[in-house]
Amino acid sequence: MDAYASFYQRSIHDRDGFWREQAQLIDWHVPPTQVCDYSKPPFARWFVGGQTNLCHNAVDRHLNDRADQPALIYVSTETGHEITYSFAQLSDEVQRMAAILQSLGVKQGDRVLIYMPMVAEAAFAMLACVRIGAIHSVVFGGFASHALASRIDDASPVLVISADAGSRGGKVVPYKPLLDEAISLSKLPPQSVLMVDRGLTPFHRVDGRDHDYAALRQQHLNARVPCVWLASEHPSYTLYTSGTTGKPKGVQRDTAGYTVALAASMQHIFVGKPGEVYFSTSDIGWVVGHSYIIYGPLIAGMATLMYEGLPTRPHGGVWWELVEKYRVTHMFSAPTAVRVLKKQDPALLSKYDISSLKALYLAGEPLDEPTAQWIADGLGKPIIDNYWQTETGWPILTVANGVQPMPSKFGSPGVPMYGFHVKLLNDHTGEELTGANEKGVVVVEGPLPPGCLQTLWGDDERFVKTYWQSVPGRWVYSTFDWGVRDADGYFYILGRTDDVINVAGHRLGTREIEESISSHPNVAEVAVVGVADQLKGQVAMAFVVAKDSSGLADAGARLKLEGEIMKLVDSQLGAVARPARVLFLSLLPKTRSGKLLRRAIQAVCERRDPGDLTTIDDPTPLQQIKDQLA
Ligand code: PRX
Repeated sequence: MDAYASFYQRSIHDRDGFWREQAQLIDWHVPPTQVCDYSKPPFARWFVGGQTNLCHNAVDRHLNDRADQPALIYVSTETGHEITYSFAQLSDEVQRMAAILQSLGVKQGDRVLIYMPMVAEAAFAMLACVRIGAIHSVVFGGFASHALASRIDDASPVLVISADAGSRGGKVVPYKPLLDEAISLSKLPPQSVLMVDRGLTPFHRVDGRDHDYAALRQQHLNARVPCVWLASEHPSYTLYTSGTTGKPKGVQRDTAGYTVALAASMQHIFVGKPGEVYFSTSDIGWVVGHSYIIYGPLIAGMATLMYEGLPTRPHGGVWWELVEKYRVTHMFSAPTAVRVLKKQDPALLSKYDISSLKALYLAGEPLDEPTAQWIADGLGKPIIDNYWQTETGWPILTVANGVQPMPSKFGSPGVPMYGFHVKLLNDHTGEELTGANEKGVVVVEGPLPPGCLQTLWGDDERFVKTYWQSVPGRWVYSTFDWGVRDADGYFYILGRTDDVINVAGHRLGTREIEESISSHPNVAEVAVVGVADQLKGQVAMAFVVAKDSSGLADAGARLKLEGEIMKLVDSQLGAVARPARVLFLSLLPKTRSGKLLRRAIQAVCERRDPGDLTTIDDPTPLQQIKDQLA
């Protein structure tokens, strides 16, 4: 048996022995007494009885051996700001931030919502929270007031940390007015707001509520705030993600399991060592930003490069220029970003000295073979696809080159990672599919390994109902993805089984977009469907039945209403959720029993055969879609 196969088998069949060894990769204040308590499935408690701290393992732990080595390299091509913090400097900044949080009344177990652009202070804030046992909840800066308000209501934070603005493509993107609006919409407004003033745009301050970061930092320059030793299961953070309903799900992560899982992934999957440099182009608002901008690389003692800017500004070679300048060893990005680069001059890929780079990891959406081939040829480096979810926190499927060099196959993220007992199930019968090339739902038999979600914030019942299915004697977690496995055990992901869509690697719930569009006074009914797109993988398309359709025969009137609807989504959810097109129909295509024919709509938009339409109530709307797209 080859090395990885036995490593994997041991993780499944000697689960506790396997993870007891992995637990040695981190520092403990009190070592655990039990590896996994799975007495109340599907809830798994990892490293029971132990005490540790995520910030200690990411920062303080390195102060003895590498205090002066780079820890956080911050680069903004938007503002021209570029600064490197050593581990010692990062520790100082995190302690200042922790002292500020405490001065604003933040205590262990309190939630702190972080709504920030890619600034170094966002990293300080995350690390400061986990240092004192406050639970951070980072909301992607691209989300607007309504999306933010629903997350504030769910998390009920005592404090929100924000900034005056972000910047994108040279354009200032104000954050504060959206935050103020979200707080006014919120049923549980936070007591305090901490503002990082970048000097990008003036903003309104609310007396008594809004505090200035720079002023408070001055007061706490010499702050020493020790790490609080936390029980293994203490929640480290929640991160909202989309599902089938409009209400976002607060994925809740523990402390010890997550720390161990990331440390193990840095060793076995990413093969990262102290002194090396990790550059993930994601955003702190997404799970990749949590695991592989902030925590994973720092736990491994690597420097992490945090980047604000586009891949194409000031020029299409800016990423490779940064690789050369900072001797980046590991890069992590999304297929969409590579497809954007494909439109640039390919000579840019070889213009800089990228000899330090060992591999480019890509995740978040399907990596199509031409894109993978193009970047592999251009860089002459291994391209490593990896498949996972906000829920899991680290890869479910990829290759574990740290255990054994493994070949990658284009189009496949790889094989199940240790700890993930991955199976394919027939979606009708629930039976396990064991043969090659059979399509089924990708599931993981419980318990989920360390680092995955413990539950959904404040809603154990929803956690069980949403993800788990109990088959006699065992529980299985659904990924909501279709997949097949080839004869070599490599998986291929074929898209979601639910209404979640993936736009440029951003996971969005169609339901949330539908709810936003429904709030337009002239919308009677709406369906939002994900449609294949060359660049973004998928885009959202909205199909609207207007309350008053008189006048909509006129193209100008349609365009005007389409514009209003797009603006509405921009202002409520953010431009990330804006549909690419809004088409107007006299009715939505449904079955005679009233079920929306999403797949038929999608097929028509993608110019494919819509398949069996015998149950359709009225085919007119499908024809209307065809006509409008023609
Ligand atoms: O549908 C799968 C797709 O993205 C979903 C998870 O998105 P998110 O929660 O934002 O987490 C992203 C973490 C990298 C999955 O259910 N997905 C993610 N990675 C891949 C992928 N689809 C195909 N190939 C991948 N490598």
